[in-house]
Parts: sequence; C-alpha cells; structure tokens
Amino acid sequence: MTTAIKTLEKMRSKAIEGGGKERLQKQHDKGKLSARERLDILLDPNSFTELDMFVKHRSSDFGMNEQKILTDGVITGYGEIEGRKVMVFSQDFTVFGGSLSEAFAEKICKIMDMALKSGVPIIGLNDSGGARIQEGVVSLGGYADIFLRNTLASGVVPQISAILGPCAGGAVYSPAITDFVFMAKETSHMFVTGPSVVKTVTHEEVSMEELGGADTHASKSGVAHFACENEVEALQKIRTLLSYLPSNNLDNPPVIDNVDDANRQNEELDTLIPENSNKPYDMHKVINIIVDGDSFFEVHADYARNIIVGFARLGGHSVGIVANQPAHLAGVLDIDSSVKGARFVRFCDAFNIPIITFEDVPGFLPGTEQEWQGIIRNGAKLLYAFAEATVPKLTVITRKAYGGAYDVMSSKHIRGDFNFAWPSAEIAVMGPKGAVEIIFKSAISKSENPEKETDKLMADYREKFANPYVAAERGYIDDVIKPHETRWRLINGLELLSSKVDKNPKKKHGNIPL
Ligand code: HXC
Repeated sequence: MTTAIKTLEKMRSKAIEGGGKERLQKQHDKGKLSARERLDILLDPNSFTELDMFVKHRSSDFGMNEQKILTDGVITGYGEIEGRKVMVFSQDFTVFGGSLSEAFAEKICKIMDMALKSGVPIIGLNDSGGARIQEGVVSLGGYADIFLRNTLASGVVPQISAILGPCAGGAVYSPAITDFVFMAKETSHMFVTGPSVVKTVTHEEVSMEELGGADTHASKSGVAHFACENEVEALQKIRTLLSYLPSNNLDNPPVIDNVDDANRQNEELDTLIPENSNKPYDMHKVINIIVDGDSFFEVHADYARNIIVGFARLGGHSVGIVANQPAHLAGVLDIDSSVKGARFVRFCDAFNIPIITFEDVPGFLPGTEQEWQGIIRNGAKLLYAFAEATVPKLTVITRKAYGGAYDVMSSKHIRGDFNFAWPSAEIAVMGPKGAVEIIFKSAISKSENPEKETDKLMADYREKFANPYVAAERGYIDDVIKPHETRWRLINGLELLSSKVDKNPKKKHGNIPL
C-alpha cells in the first residue's frame, strides 16, 4: 500500500471516531445510539456512501482553531432503503454536541440540493445542541440556508425527520417544515425554549419530557407524527413509511405484489354499524377489514383521534386513508382534526397517492372555544385541501354525512371521483332531532304532547332525509353498496382512475386559509 493510501485510511478512521470513545460512551449511557449506528439501522446493509468526511469548521474564536474534528459533527451521504435511494444526514452529538456550524450547514445543504436535482427523499436524523455558539450569526445563517431548502423541497421530494436527542430554539423549524416527524420517547426533546426559560418567563414548572417529549408532541401539539418507544423503532418505522411513498412528485408510489384477494368480501362489515345511529363503533375495524392484509400504517395516531389518517394498500397500490372516527368525540370535525386531515390530504396530493375517505361525521364541533379559536378558518383548510386535490378521490359514507362536513369530506361537488354510500348512510343538512326542532318549532310547541309529536316528526324526517337515496337520486352518490362489496368497489375504482388526469388553474400558488 502506498503511503498516500495509508494516509487516506488513517484519516478515514479518524473521521469515523467522531468525538472519541469517551463521548461515545456518554452517548450510549444516555440510551442513545451514535450517528453511524443509526445509519446502519436506517439503511440497507452496506448501502451507505459518505460525502464530505474531511470537512472541518473554519472558525478560530474561543480556541476553536485548536479543536477541529473531521466531519464537523454531521455525517452526510446517500444510501438505500429497500433498494431505493435516499439522501441522509445524521447529526453526531459526540462532536461539539452536534451543534450546527457554517461547514456543518453546508454539508446538509449539499445533500439537499442533490436530493432535489435527483428526485430522492431526504431523511434527517437530528441530535444537536443547536446553533454552534462559537460561530454566532454564521450558524444562524446556516440554519436559514437549510430552512430555505426544506421549503423548496416541500412537495417535490418526501422529507422525513427523526428527532433523536435535543432539538431546540429555531432549529425545530427545519423538522417542522418536513413532511413527517418521528420522535423517540425519553431521549428526544423539541422546544422553542427549554424548561428554565419557561420558568423565568411564565413561572411554570415543567419537565423536559412534559414540555417537549415524544408523547407531548404526538398527542398534544401534533408536531410529531410518531412517538416511538426507542430509536430503533423510529428508524425502522421510517423504512416502513417510505415503502408507501414515491421518491418524488413526478413518480408514482411503489406497487407491491398483492397477496390479498381483491374480491375478498367480509360479511362482518354488513353488521358493523350499530342499529342505533348514536352508538359509536371503531372505524379502524372498517379500515383494517377493507385494505390489503395488515397494510394500514397510521400517521398521527395519538393526535386529534376523531379523525384517522394513514397509508394503506389496496390491490397492492398505496393509498392515503382519511376517516372520521365515531369512537372518539363521535367523529366530529374540530380545529385539530381539520388541520391534521388537511395536511395529510395535501401530502397525498403532492405525491400522487390516491385518497380514500371513510365518512361518518355528525358535523363541525359547536361552542365558543372552537369558534373563537377559528374553527371557520381551520375547518376551511380541510375543505380547501380536499377541493384542490387532483389525485383519485374515492369516498365511502358509512353512516352520518351531515351539514358542511358532508361537503368537506371529499364530496362529489369538490371533485370526488367515486362516492359510495352504505345503506346505513344518513345524508342531510343536520340530524333528525335538531332539524325537526327548528322547522317544526311552532307545531311542536302547540302540540298537546310535544315529546310524542317530536318523535313522530323525527321518524318522518329520518325516512325522508336520513338515508342515502336522496343524494343518490341526484347522482351525488354514484352507488349505494353493500358494505361487504366495498373492498372490491374501491380496488376496481382505483384501477379505472389510475390514468386519471385533472388539473387546477395555472397560478403561482393558492392561498389556503392558514
Ligand atoms: C457549541 C455545544 C453546543 C452548542 C453543546 N455543545 N451545545 N457546543 N454550541 N450549541 C457541546 C458542549 O460544549 C459539550 O462539549 C458537548 O457539546 C456536549 O454538551 P453537554 O452540555 O455536555 O451535553 P448535555 O449535558 O447532554 O446537554 C446537552 C444540551 C446542552 C442540553 C444540548 O449542551 C445545551 O444546553 N447546549 C446549548 C443549547 C443551546 O442553547 N443552543 C443554542 C440554541 S439557540 P464537550 O467538548 O464538553 O464534549 C439555536 C438557534 C437556532 O439553536 C436558530 C435557528 C434559526
């Protein structure tokens, strides 16, 4: 071996050492993996190609010229997941606490630019003390360079963030712009300001985990889409998520060999809806019976549980599922569920993933809290998202489709392609009780037995309106189907729509009510 090659080898092993054995041990002691161990789990074996291993920071203040570590605290490059290329960066907490310097930011920007040009997803593994304090504003500039690229890449390539350590201050805004955020319980935290600043400013006492841990962000704030038990689960789940997604917005999602019979008919669906239409049932059951095998991969499972969103396969094809959940708050649409649904619908539309909507919604949630926080503006997001989506849209009304929520949930009027209803569907302006109390107010008050009169009027109303046939008469519903036929009807519809072309008017961009 020549001396030059020996020097290269030496430098490579030096770079792989990162911040050294002691700091690596500290990392392990905290229950965290190293930046390289994470890449080994995330990527297919031996598929990682590293770039910019020899990069060092260029700062000299605060004795930094004495401390230069190859890689400068972030490992960047590309690899494969199930044989498909991805660009990755993995922040190395053992090198200056994974803090972001000018050189560090340049490395990330380089792979982001490459991902955009090549149409390849970007996965970022975050574990960082934030802006490199010794570099001052240069580091802030580096963050902004990344934020810009996150924004430009949005809707062009899927962007996925795993938070596997601290992520604080403005640094949280890069993951926030990306499409999906995974967090590991206990070892990862996201916040704009930590517990001590919170205490000073608002006098609240709150722990790191309570303020910005995985469970908090997956259930309260909605910042995280997945709260994982540990890092390994987070990294494996990223692999699963990618299996549903295309590599970019010009590509179609991967199709897998379908082992589940497209004609499978499950009679249990026919009795799943309770006789009493005010009784709840679990929409997960409906979804899991209809989609291929155990393909349903729920997103945002713990946040705004009155709406369910996630990916699944039908006949081997990726689909996005949006479903009201009658088992939680009766499936009502409120601010959080509208925003959750809207963001998911827009992701599916950006990446050519057909949307299947299962609808059982009593309407929008009334009340001062919702009104004052802007249910109008926020509910409009879901309406806007469904209306602008040009991917194949198939809707199944299982039970209630009342009021504005009927229009919003991918109705025929906002370009639903196939709109089916089960015989149990109730499609009307509002539920029977509310309706008769308004339109027969004076008749009821004059009646000798108001309660009996209300029941009679409700029965009439139910017969007239609380069924799918009024909508079907007008073609708002393409067909009333038996529940057990749903799987076949959806797969069959998707096949027809696989060549669907639909467009929105030419514009710079729309103005979704934010
Ligand atoms: C430079 C940093 C650093 C930083 C940590 N280190 N954060 N170096 N800049 N921001 C270094 C430490 O000096 C130490 O170096 C090593 O990383 C590990 O740090 P520890 O403190 O020993 O680790 P730990 O006890 O686990 O605490 C981790 C931590 C803490 C909670 C992240 O280090 C911390 O509070 N750091 C500062 C966080 C911060 O305020 N960042 C700026 C946020 S504002 P040695 O050599 O001893 O191993 C921001 C703005 C972004 O980021 C704006 C974007 C628009």
